[in-house]
Amino acid sequence: MIDLGRTPDVIFLHNPEKSLVGIGPTHARDRLDAACAVLNEAVTAGLCASWGISSWDAGPLIQALDGDPFAKALTPEVLMVRAGLTVPSDQLDASERTAERLGIPPNRLWGMSPFGGDAARDVWKKIKAATFLCQDEQGSNVQAVFRASYELPKVTRISVSSGRIDHLRELVAAESLKVDLDQIARYRQLLREKKSHS
Ligand SMILES: NC(=O)c1ccc[n+]([C@@H]2O[C@H](COP(=O)([O-])OP(=O)(O)OC[C@H]3O[C@@H](n4cnc5c(N)ncnc54)[C@H](OP(=O)(O)O)[C@@H]3O)[C@@H](O)[C@H]2O)c1
Repeated sequence: MIDLGRTPDVIFLHNPEKSLVGIGPTHARDRLDAACAVLNEAVTAGLCASWGISSWDAGPLIQALDGDPFAKALTPEVLMVRAGLTVPSDQLDASERTAERLGIPPNRLWGMSPFGGDAARDVWKKIKAATFLCQDEQGSNVQAVFRASYELPKVTRISVSSGRIDHLRELVAAESLKVDLDQIARYRQLLREKKSHS
C-alpha cells in the first residue's frame, strides 16, 4: 500500500454504471445506494475528506436514480463526468440530469478526458475548434478543444492527463479563452437532431 502522506481530498466511486446494467431498476438503485453508503462511511471514518462519483456514461446512473424517484440519494461532494466535443448527446443529457437529481451545485460538476484519451486522434486534426471561441480569441486547436470541453456539459474543473509540462502550460493558458455560448447551444441542438435521425 502507498502512503500518500495525507488524507485524500476526494475518493471517487469509479464508473458505478458498470455495476448497474443488466439488473432491474430497484436492484440497481439499492446497489448504487450501498456503494455510496460505503464511501460516506469512509469520510466519517476520516479516510478521506469527501467522496464523489466519476462516471464515463451517466445513462445507467440516472436510470437507477429514477428507479425510485421518491428516495433521497446520498449526495456526493463531486460528480465528475466525461466532457468534450466527442461526448454523445444522450450522455451529455444524462450527466446534467444526474447532477440535478443528486443536487450537485454547478461548481461541483467536474469534467474528465477532454480529448477522449488521445489528443493526436484524426478527429482533433479535422475539427476547427476555434469556431467555438468568441470572435478575436486566439488559441491553438488543442486549446480551443480543451476550452470548449468546459461547456459540454458545463463543468468547473477538468481532469486531463499529460506527460509534458509545455502541454500543461498550453492547457492552463486556454482557460482564459472566451467561448461562444450560442455556438455551443447550436452544437448541442445539432447533436440532438443527429441522434433523433439515427
Ligand atoms: N472514469 C473513467 O472511465 C475515465 C476514463 C478515462 C479517463 N478518466 C479520467 O480522466 C483523466 C484524463 O483522461 P485521459 O488521460 O484518458 O484523456 P485526456 O486527458 O482526454 O487525453 C490525454 C492525452 O492528451 C494529450 N494532451 C494533453 N494536453 C495536450 C496538449 N496541450 N497538446 C497535445 N496533446 C495533449 C496527452 O498527451 P501528452 O502526454 O503528450 O501531453 C495525453 O495523451 C484521467 O486521469 C482520469 O482521471 C476517467
